[in-house]
Amino acid sequence: MEIIIAKDYDEMSRISAEIIAEKIKKKYDLVLGLATGDTPVGTYKELVKLYNEEGLDFSKITTFNLDEYIGLAPLHENSYNHFMKENLFKHVNINPSRVFVPQGNTNDPEIFCEWYENKIREAGGIDLQILGIGRDGHIAFNEPGSSFASRTRVKALVKETIEDNARFFKKKEDVPRFAITMGIGTILEAKEILLIANGGKKAEVCAKFIEGPITSMITASALQLHCSVTVVLDEEAASHLTRKEYYDWVRNNKQLVQKKIGR
Ligand code: PGA
Repeated sequence: MEIIIAKDYDEMSRISAEIIAEKIKKKYDLVLGLATGDTPVGTYKELVKLYNEEGLDFSKITTFNLDEYIGLAPLHENSYNHFMKENLFKHVNINPSRVFVPQGNTNDPEIFCEWYENKIREAGGIDLQILGIGRDGHIAFNEPGSSFASRTRVKALVKETIEDNARFFKKKEDVPRFAITMGIGTILEAKEILLIANGGKKAEVCAKFIEGPITSMITASALQLHCSVTVVLDEEAASHLTRKEYYDWVRNNKQLVQKKIGR
């Protein structure tokens, strides 16, 4: 894992948007995995800025979102479909026929999940997957205890996640209890992964998934099994890491490191 410690949320957003933009510039038909939540809002703003100011071209990329609440129609104001439209899709030249977000109001979630996995496969797999992290260590809605082999499926949300996400709803009772989510196995098949996190309330879990043991109780720790993961944290989210000096040294000496390891 490459760990990048940014000074604050804005810098975290800029760095992560630059990483994504570089990938799109290198591969115009990139398959990009997208995340929702408060964390990536700034990253999407920066991408919109790059589209407006530098002409970053989204027209040939394909996107797959990580998850969606069961029971919410795509136009529902709390759906992740709606979130993506408001925060990214409507601001850039993305082709709607290449945009995939799980459908929360599907009649048959099981068949839908199989279809979603097939679509990812048909697209050639995800080139770069963006992830946030929950306080309980989840990536997408893979709550503690999720199998590392899991695929896109329906998952029951834990109390902590429902409480954390209640801020987006009128009342806590309105937060859906279930979601469709890519599995850990699905996520680990992405060629590259970019996880972003900010704020003191993510500090403990970030130290656990980066420096602690691999455990399904912190599903983000599965990323230790992946060979191409970049983590961009702000200083607060990085505050419990014990090897910060090492991560900074590696980042500041990247060219030297790449030369030594032959990349
Ligand atoms: P947040 O959610 O970005 O709103 O903190 C992250 C997550 O639960 O994955």
